[in-house]
Amino acid sequence: MGRKEWFVERLDEVDSTNVELARRAREGAASRAALVADVQSQGRGRLGREWHAPAGSSLLCSVLVDAPVAVAPQWVVVAAALSLVDALETLTGVRADLKWPNDVLFGDDKVAGVLAELVDAPTPRLVIGVGVNLSEVDPAYASATTVRRATGVDLGVDEVLDAYLESLAGHLESLETPGGAARLAEEYRGSLATLRQRVRVELASGPLYGVAVDVDDEGAILVDLGETTRRFHAGDVVHLRKEDD
Ligand code: BTN
Repeated sequence: MGRKEWFVERLDEVDSTNVELARRAREGAASRAALVADVQSQGRGRLGREWHAPAGSSLLCSVLVDAPVAVAPQWVVVAAALSLVDALETLTGVRADLKWPNDVLFGDDKVAGVLAELVDAPTPRLVIGVGVNLSEVDPAYASATTVRRATGVDLGVDEVLDAYLESLAGHLESLETPGGAARLAEEYRGSLATLRQRVRVELASGPLYGVAVDVDDEGAILVDLGETTRRFHAGDVVHLRKEDD
């Protein structure tokens, strides 16, 4: 399986590729659809945030895949993040890291984000959207970077899309085989810059401070808080190394 397994559609403009693909999924669109837009008027980020990208500056893409039966859905989202890391390494020669759960970083700065949403009907499926800053980033994002700035390489949307979809198809195929989630978890640990770092976990009840020690079978992060180790499924984790500089 590879790049040719995806049914790719390009749009000049859309509200959000995730929202549009979820709409189409509920209307019966087939899995393995990929929707790419030059501009989004209402791009969405994690935790209810917005995602802004100057026109033509980024890869803005969502894919529709079946929710996995045997493994936690989080592994499909991790597969997308690792596929971006692989694609960018193939094209630039520079390997990015991940910040838990799935931000893609060059150094301490974010170059890409992943947003997954579950669509229940007519069958359980995931819409996984990625935004990759290629040549420009909205100046409002303080600790964001672009592929061009971080690596010196100018990439086109289509080449990043092709390399990403090729890698994602391989990761999804591997996930369906015995031991697939365990293999992916090892790859994830190897790319996750959050591990062994002092972190601040932002919770509605206030921040917690500790050291990120591992990820579990569901992709949750385990943080050693001193007296106890707690697992977090969602939320924001801040690397304190950067704040110490
Ligand atoms: C994050 O907050 O890091 C996730 C950002 C995900 C942005 C992408 S851009 C394509 C897709 N459509 C959206 O509305 N969001 C995702």
